[in-house]
Amino acid sequence: MKFFADTAEIADIRELNEAGLLDGVTTNPSLIAKSGRDFMEVTREICAIVDGPVSAEVVALDHETMMREAEVLRKIADNVCIKVPLTIDGLKTCRALTGDGTMVNVTLCFSANQALLAGKAGATFVSPFVGRHDDNGYDGMELIRDIRLIYDNYDFGTEILVASVRHVVHVLEAARIGADVMTAPPKVITALANHVLTDKGLEGFSSDWAKTGQSILG
Ligand code: E4P
Repeated sequence: MKFFADTAEIADIRELNEAGLLDGVTTNPSLIAKSGRDFMEVTREICAIVDGPVSAEVVALDHETMMREAEVLRKIADNVCIKVPLTIDGLKTCRALTGDGTMVNVTLCFSANQALLAGKAGATFVSPFVGRHDDNGYDGMELIRDIRLIYDNYDFGTEILVASVRHVVHVLEAARIGADVMTAPPKVITALANHVLTDKGLEGFSSDWAKTGQSILG
């Protein structure tokens, strides 16, 4: 399963990338607003750090303006992936962009039928939002299971990008189901390394090593 960081914070992106944990990045208008940075500038910076796809989202609601915005965004770098909403105008934009080789992430997906439409529109990625689904009394991971089943039934090439990930159990479940990608805040990705027995084991090894009075570095 590929790991994307769901953030526009450069320091976090650099750190995860250097640890070899990053296959791409997703941003959205709220994350850009939170960063306080200029959209074009921060996206350009992220694209230069990460080799994989970097999602940059259009903000228009109609197909024609989405196409004009996508034209500007895709000039930023070769690894820009245009993010469009799961609406009929968004799907139309998806079809037009993927038709000429541009990567497209269809976002704000909350049902398996919507994911079916994204697959038919030739999306590179579909982003079902599991956290927001859970918040509203639905089972976000059940949605991922349904999409996996449908995409496998019809051999869709669209990758399932599990989004709105809130905690490490979402990541575990996504991997069990066989999602292609998950995007999470950096703190969720680093939390995957945490285990109380790892900490306890390290404490024991460190104190026993101190008793030997030795040093590996001489
Ligand atoms: C995905 O691409 C979105 O940016 C993101 O995962 C939304 O997550 P949220 O529900 O935590 O805002």
